[in-house]
Amino acid sequence: MKAVVLRDPSARVRVEEVELAPPGRDEVLVEMAAAGVCHTDLHLVRGDWPHPLPVILGHEGSGRILEVGAAVEGLAVGDHVVLSWVAPCGVCRYCLAGREARCSTWGSTIAASGTLADGTSRMSIGGEQAFHYLGVSSFAERAVLPASGVIKVRSDAPLEDIALVGCAVATGVGAVLNTAAVEPGSTVAVIGCGGVGLSIIQGAVLAGASRIIAVDVVGTKLDVARTLGATDAVLAGRGDAAKLLLDLLADGVDYAFDAIGHVSTTEAAIDMLGIGGAAVVVGLPATGSSAKFDPLALAEAERRILGCNYGSIRPHRDIPHLVDLVMEGRLRLDSLVSSRRSLEDAADALDVLATGSSLRTLLIP
Ligand SMILES: NC(=O)c1ccc[n+]([C@@H]2O[C@H](COP(=O)([O-])OP(=O)(O)OC[C@H]3O[C@@H](n4cnc5c(N)ncnc54)[C@H](O)[C@@H]3O)[C@@H](O)[C@H]2O)c1
Ligand SMILES: [Zn+2]
Ligand SMILES: [Zn+2]
Repeated sequence: MKAVVLRDPSARVRVEEVELAPPGRDEVLVEMAAAGVCHTDLHLVRGDWPHPLPVILGHEGSGRILEVGAAVEGLAVGDHVVLSWVAPCGVCRYCLAGREARCSTWGSTIAASGTLADGTSRMSIGGEQAFHYLGVSSFAERAVLPASGVIKVRSDAPLEDIALVGCAVATGVGAVLNTAAVEPGSTVAVIGCGGVGLSIIQGAVLAGASRIIAVDVVGTKLDVARTLGATDAVLAGRGDAAKLLLDLLADGVDYAFDAIGHVSTTEAAIDMLGIGGAAVVVGLPATGSSAKFDPLALAEAERRILGCNYGSIRPHRDIPHLVDLVMEGRLRLDSLVSSRRSLEDAADALDVLATGSSLRTLLIP
C-alpha cells in the first residue's frame, strides 16, 4: 500500500510503498476514508519528541473495516469506524478508574514503542521494520490497529469528515466536558484556534459557558472561532495573551485552555486565571520543556493546573456520542477543514499547518 513515511526529522515526509501484514487475533484491518493532519504529527516531523523510525504518520482517521482478527467481537467487515489513538486495555487500574485516555498498558507498549500491543509491527518497507504512530498510522491506504482502538459509529455520518472526531474533536470537546468539567455560566479562554482550540470552543458552547474568549495570532482563525460560538476574540502577539485577556476581563477567567503548547502560552493560561480558576494544558511542548508559575498565587487564589491527554475520553463511550452531536448539528466539522488533498500532498499540508495559516487538511487516500 501507499503510506506517508517519516524517516528522519530533518527530511521531508514522502509517500512510499509499505507492506502491511494481516491483522492478528485482536486486531482489525481498516480501509482509510480520510486522515486529518494534526499538529501532533508536526511535532514528530520536527523532532520535538523521540520516536522509532521509520514511522508511518497519522493518528486521526476514519474508514471501513476490511477484515477482523479471530478473537475480535463487536466489529464486522463493512462497519464504519473512527480510529482512537488510545487503544484502552480495559483492565489496568487507570482503565478501571475510567481514565482510559491514559491506559497504562497502551502507554507502556503502543505509545512507547511504536509497535502494536505485542511489541511487533505489522508494517515493513522492503523487508525493514516500519513503526506505527500511536497504534494508528492513518496517513495510508489501509491500517492494522488494535481492535479496542477501532470505534464503530453510525453509518449515516459523513465518513470522511468524522475522521476529525478521532483527535481534534475528541480532545477539544473532551477537555471541556471531561478534563475540566466546565460548569454552565463559566468564563472560558482558549489560546490557539486550530483544530483542537476550535473544538474546545464548541465544547464550551455545549457546556453553557457565558463568555468564550478566543485568542490567536492569526485573524482568520478568530473569524472562524466567532462563527463557532466565541463571544470575544483577542488578536495576540507572541507573549502578550495574558495581559490582553486581563484588559478585557480584569478578574480573569474560570478556565483557560492552552491549545498550543508553547511554554509561553502555558504560562499565559495560568496567568489569566481568576480565583478558583483552572488552566488546562492541552497543547503539547517539546520533550524536556518547563514552565514557570507562582505557587504562592496559585495556593492563595486556589487556582489549578490540569493536564489533558486526549480529552480524558473513554473512546467507546465518547466517540459515538460526539458523532451523534455532529449529526444533530450541535458540533460542526466543516469549519475545521481547510482542504482535502491526496497522500502525496502530506508534506505540503504539514508545511502549511506550521505557518498557522491553515486549519485541518483531510488526506484522502
Ligand atoms: N493533549 C492532547 O491529547 C492533544 C491532542 C491533540 C493535539 N494536541 C496538541 O494541541 C496543540 C494544537 O494542535 P492543533 O492541531 O489544533 O494545532 P494547529 O496548528 O491547528 O493550531 C495552533 C493554533 O495556535 C495559533 N498560535 C500559534 N502560536 C500562538 C501564540 N503564541 N498565541 C496565540 N495563538 C498562537 C496558530 O495560529 C494556530 O491557529 C498541539 O500542540 C498538538 O500537539 C494535544
Ligand atoms: Zn492529534
Ligand atoms: Zn488500560
